[in-house]
Amino acid sequence: MAKQKSIFFCKECGAESPKWLGQCPACKAWDSMVEEPVAPKSKAVKSQAGSGLLKKAVPEKLSQIEAHTDTRIVTGIEEFDRVLGGGIVDSSLVLVGGDPGIGKSTLLLQVCKVLVGMKLDVLYISGEESVHQIKMRADRLGKFDGELELLSETCLDNIEEIVIEKKPRVVVVDSIQTMFREDIAASPGSVSQVRETTGALLRLAKGYGVTIFIVGHVTKEGVVAGPRVLEHMVDTVLYFEGDNSSDYRVLRAVKNRFGSTNEVGVFEMRGNGLREVRNPSEYMLAGTPVGEPGSVITATIEGTRPIMLEIQALCCQTALNIPRRTAVGIDYNRVNLLLAVLEKKLGLKLSFCDAYVNVAGGMRVNEPALDLPIVMALLSSYTNKPLGEKTICFGEVGLTGEIRGVSQAEQRVAEAKQLGYETVILPKVNAKAASSVGLKIVGVGHISELMRLF
Ligand code: TYD
Ligand code: MG
Repeated sequence: MAKQKSIFFCKECGAESPKWLGQCPACKAWDSMVEEPVAPKSKAVKSQAGSGLLKKAVPEKLSQIEAHTDTRIVTGIEEFDRVLGGGIVDSSLVLVGGDPGIGKSTLLLQVCKVLVGMKLDVLYISGEESVHQIKMRADRLGKFDGELELLSETCLDNIEEIVIEKKPRVVVVDSIQTMFREDIAASPGSVSQVRETTGALLRLAKGYGVTIFIVGHVTKEGVVAGPRVLEHMVDTVLYFEGDNSSDYRVLRAVKNRFGSTNEVGVFEMRGNGLREVRNPSEYMLAGTPVGEPGSVITATIEGTRPIMLEIQALCCQTALNIPRRTAVGIDYNRVNLLLAVLEKKLGLKLSFCDAYVNVAGGMRVNEPALDLPIVMALLSSYTNKPLGEKTICFGEVGLTGEIRGVSQAEQRVAEAKQLGYETVILPKVNAKAASSVGLKIVGVGHISELMRLF
């Protein structure tokens, strides 16, 4: 018998290679190559031809193409609509990724609940749960005002048939890692299955005008292909993130053909489903200690919205030769860099201190404007002096200790004002623009000016 041919795929980015490699040449991930059988090409193409979608395209003139704006379904779940750029775009393919158990199924079932309430035809396909399990989840979300159709199925060929026959307006496929096509030899969740099934869903979405939400689990270990493999195939990629220890969840757009990326929606997981958090700043600052050294409030920009956060730092003398450093919610290397700047420019003996830095509330932020609050929190903990009450700060810190301007300073200050803050410590270059808001503005140009602010 002829040996079955196989090919190697990177499970991080989907790159192909005829032989195993220790490092993926495309995304540079180590030990990410997995072996999978080659799919018989002719069969896969034939099945596309069979679905009647393999039409021959002809070139068209740009001037003669009619412009039409995307029609959107506005769900009324504002945090969700905003992340999508103002509602669900018709016949789009949307990937919702996230860690297992974060609430992806719950979120999409809640969206379905709203959609059936609007009397739209919605089909929820689960390859993970039985219809009874989905029913139990739905019961937790409250009464459905309309009929949602459920299907527990993993074979994509069957799903294709059902969708083509029923032509629902919106379909949810939960999750892509459980779906398979019969003509592909690899197991469900493998790179080739995930790719092929997504390709088939893409053709369904575009060919039949169905909006499809795909759930994808992000996994670091194991052979299950990460949703990153299919990011380039879909219109929109949303990531649902959060901390296991806290109830808050952030829905983030990382790719959006119909709206801005880096928009976020904030939710809170309750016993009866997800609740929108309209004012994330208030939510994030609940329970913030007052007058404690090591606690500093800042304003970060998430998408187009300012969100106030608390940065906490703890510096204490270490008994270890190599001091311990941890960073939760922010980049670990950035914290190390800022500690080095403080040590060199202010002469602090930080190499004898353990340093822990934490974004309170479980939020993850990656923004240079957080440098100054991290530095202030470290200084505050190191000197054991609290920063003044009702004070916030933001700004980028450079390697020479200079404090550099950040974007949207005015918006950050305005948010602080709304929440009753009175003083803002910010980069000197931002001081003029921010002064119009009406708070007390303290412009700083170098970290050597910070000590006197405590
Ligand atoms: P789920 O949507 O199943 O996660 P995913 O699809 O991303 O794997 O969410 C599972 C978690 O959410 C589970 O731990 C239970 C919790 N949960 C609530 O707290 N409240 C609820 O109303 C529901 C439906 C789930
Ligand atoms: Mg799920």
